Amino acid sequence: MKEILYKAAIESGKIIKEYFETKFIIESKDVISNLVTEVDKKSESKIIEVIRNEFPNHNILSEEIGALDTDSDVKWIIDPIDGTINYAHSIPICCVSIGIEKKGEIILGLVYNPMNGELFFAEKGKGAFLNDKKISISKEDNLYKSLLVTGFPYDTSNNPHKPVKVFAEFVNSDIPVRRLGSAALDLCWTACGRFDGFWEYNLNPWDVAAGYLIMTEAGGVVSDFDGNNFSVYKKEILATNGLIHNHMLRMIKNVK
Ligand code: IPD
Ligand code: CA
Ligand code: CA
Repeated sequence: MKEILYKAAIESGKIIKEYFETKFIIESKDVISNLVTEVDKKSESKIIEVIRNEFPNHNILSEEIGALDTDSDVKWIIDPIDGTINYAHSIPICCVSIGIEKKGEIILGLVYNPMNGELFFAEKGKGAFLNDKKISISKEDNLYKSLLVTGFPYDTSNNPHKPVKVFAEFVNSDIPVRRLGSAALDLCWTACGRFDGFWEYNLNPWDVAAGYLIMTEAGGVVSDFDGNNFSVYKKEILATNGLIHNHMLRMIKNVK
């Protein structure tokens, strides 16, 4: 499966790179700012074609096409472009993200940004890698010296103020926070120690499946906002180097 995972991501990356900064169709989804481009769809079709050629009966959960279920215990969880808004604006911070779940556990994850050639990969129990070099989380134990990253939901009708209030809580504590626009890269950049912690509300399994495994295999801690075990089907994620985890949890919980 590892070989096909790489093949699917590299083939998708070629498409993403080829169309970058060209004219392509851009449409809105549920809310006007939530975009899907022609390239998301092309990338998705290619990934599914590569998987189906080798594993015709594996389950697929992919952002644009949804769930293609068979009776397999393997599920490929795919984000054909994570960071679509960046991509549509010619900002090269985006990637293809593919996680593979077997019997309910993520066992393989790959996040590839074809624009800068960075490929993050993890296999359960075997560590996490950036372009074949082993990566690990940062050693910063002081939240006030940390660099954090987050993102915001497109549709705020559900809980309009909470994500912004939590963001304000960190920023008002003089802690630097970035917003890259790709949750999968946020997780990978935390896994390799560029960031010390990442949190976000309302993500979907395809945003986090690969990055979650890459984070944990790099030695990171991932939980929900109550400190409970994370699952890619949960809507809240806190991913840190472990050393600042409880401090971040306390700050998030204090926000009413
Ligand atoms: C989005 C990105 C972004 C996050 C959004 C996601 P998309 O994914 O991961 O960082 O803040 O919530 O939906 O739409 O570019 O695949
Ligand atoms: Ca996404
Ligand atoms: Ca996407």
